[in-house]
Amino acid sequence: MIDRIIDFSVRNKFLVLLLVGAAALAGARALREVPLDAIPDVGDTQVIVYSRWDRSPDLIEAQVTYPIVTAMLGAPRVKAVRGVSDFGYSFVYVIFEDGTDTYWARTRTLEYLSGVTSRLPPDSRTELGPDATGVGWVFQYALVDRSGRHSLADLRSYQDWSLRYYLKAVPGVSEVASLGGQPADFLLIQLYQFREKQRIAEPMNELTKDFTDDDLREFSNALAQLPPPTAPEEPVDAARMARGQELVGKHRCGFCHNPDFSGHDQIGRIAPQREDYLLKALTEYKSGERSGYDPAMVEVAQEIPAPELAEIAYYLAHWGR
Ligand code: HEC
Repeated sequence: MIDRIIDFSVRNKFLVLLLVGAAALAGARALREVPLDAIPDVGDTQVIVYSRWDRSPDLIEAQVTYPIVTAMLGAPRVKAVRGVSDFGYSFVYVIFEDGTDTYWARTRTLEYLSGVTSRLPPDSRTELGPDATGVGWVFQYALVDRSGRHSLADLRSYQDWSLRYYLKAVPGVSEVASLGGQPADFLLIQLYQFREKQRIAEPMNELTKDFTDDDLREFSNALAQLPPPTAPEEPVDAARMARGQELVGKHRCGFCHNPDFSGHDQIGRIAPQREDYLLKALTEYKSGERSGYDPAMVEVAQEIPAPELAEIAYYLAHWGR
C-alpha cells in the first residue's frame, strides 16, 4: 500500500504539489476563521426580562411575572421560561433552543413582550437584561486613589459619569456594572429622619436637630467616605455562621443590600456591622418601631422569627472572617 502511494507520488509530482498547496491554503484559512474563545460559552441562549414595581412578591407574581411568563411561552424556539418574583422586582428568564442567535432571541422576546406591556401595571417598568451570558463577566477592576486627593464619592462619580461610558464603547462590551463606594444617599435619608424624629435615637436626634439640609448633605458625604468597619477578631462559631448564611440566603438580604452587603443608593451597608446594632435594627423593623423610608425592610423583618434574626445578626457581624 505504502509502496504504491510512493510510486504514485513520484510519478505525479505536480499533482502532489498542487494538493499540498491546496491543503496549506485551506489550513491557513481555517486558522483565521475558526472561532477561538478563551472561555467557550456553553450557556443557553437566554434573555432576561427585568421588571421593577414597588409591591410585594405576591402582587408582582400575579400582575407582572405571570403575564410576562405566559406571553413568552408562545414565542418560537423557546425551550423554557422561568419567573422569579421578589420585593419590588421580577425576573423572567426566557431560555431558547441551543444554537438560537442571541439577537434573534432578543428581538422575539421584545416582540412578544410588546403584546403584554399594555396589561402590566402602569407604574411598573420592564426592560431586557444586557445581551451577555453568565460567562460574559470577563473583567473586574477597582478605582484606587493612591494620591489621597479623591474621595470614594469622587471615584464613584468618575466611574459612573465618565469611565463606564468609555468602556461601554469598546466593541464587545455590553455592560459595565458599578459596585462599591458608600451609599451617601442612605446616610442622607437616615440623617434626615433623625432630624425629623421619624427615626429615634436620642443622641442622633439631638445632634441633627439644628442642621440645615445642606449640613445634612455635607455630613452624609463626609460619613460616606469613612472606610467600612471590619469584623471583630474573635473566634467564630462555624455552626452559627453556616446557619446564618443559610438564613441570609433564604431571605435574600444580598438581593437588596448587594451580594457583598455593601448597600447602594438608599439601602445601607449591613456587613460587617456590629452585632448588637444589627439585631437592634432588625428587631425595630420587626416591631414597627423603625419604619424606614421604604417599607420593604419592615416586610422582610416581619417574616423572620426573632431567634433567626439573632443568627442573621451574628453571621453579618462576622462576615468576611
Ligand atoms: C426588599 C429589599 C430588602 C431586603 C430583601 C432586605 N432589606 Fe434590609 N433594608 C432595605 C431597605 C430599603 C432598608 C432601608 C430602610 C430604612 O429606610 O430604614 C434596609 C435597611 C436595613 C438595615 C438597617 C441598616 C442600618 O445601618 O440602619 C439592616 C440592618 C438590614 N436592612 C438588614 C437586612 C437583613 C439582615 C436582610 C435579610 C434578612 C435584609 N435587610 C433584607 C431593603 C431590604
